[in-house]
Amino acid sequence: MLIRLDKYISDMVGISRQDTKKLLSKSVVTVDNKIVKKGDIKVNEENVVVVNGKKLEYKQFVYIMLNKPKGVVSATDDKNDVTVVDLVKDNYPKRNLFPAGRLDKTSTGFVLLTDDGEFAHDILAPKKHVLKEYIVTIDKEINNQIIENFNSGVTLADGTVLKSATLIPTEDKFVVKVILKQGVYHQIKRMFGVFDIGVNELHRTKIGCISLDETLQGGEYRELFLEEVEKIYNDMNG
Ligand code: URA
Repeated sequence: MLIRLDKYISDMVGISRQDTKKLLSKSVVTVDNKIVKKGDIKVNEENVVVVNGKKLEYKQFVYIMLNKPKGVVSATDDKNDVTVVDLVKDNYPKRNLFPAGRLDKTSTGFVLLTDDGEFAHDILAPKKHVLKEYIVTIDKEINNQIIENFNSGVTLADGTVLKSATLIPTEDKFVVKVILKQGVYHQIKRMFGVFDIGVNELHRTKIGCISLDETLQGGEYRELFLEEVEKIYNDMNG
């Protein structure tokens, strides 16, 4: 895909077209080792563009793993609350990022932010079978019947019949693992609600085959490695 050099630099460096023009005029931009001072030439991923000695790696899309803290909403912008996009946007001023899937304001853990609409759509589409894994702290013990019920598909209070989900006990009787293949609003809280069990904490640890990086504290994030993006793609299309 050919793109104007000034747009390419402005997108990649995250500066305005005006500032890009100034940079170009200072002779600090080279394309394939030649100084370029005009922004109207067209480049693509194969051209080596260097600005102030630093090679730009053009990425069509970005994929960010965020450890969402409590109190932050899974939206792009919000009048009252800090959003997941607010947490990262200073480093991605030119990207139209949005969360691929939501966590409740009180939930924590893995939120994937991207500007790749097709990827986000697929990751949420039940027929793509991208599993989401959660560690859930509950206020009552579970039993085998509840595990079986999760497995055969819980019917919510409003009559919605859910797909099969996996409920796995842990050593702590008030902490369980839940694996979902769909994303209905407040799904886990409503599923436990059917059995009169309250949810105290909900933390998403995994999307598809990618686990939340344990070194990320609440509010911290990193871009997915290329292999991780490819793995999720393979999950969806394999
Ligand atoms: N289910 C819920 O109830 N809340 C979440 O945040 C995610 C899944």
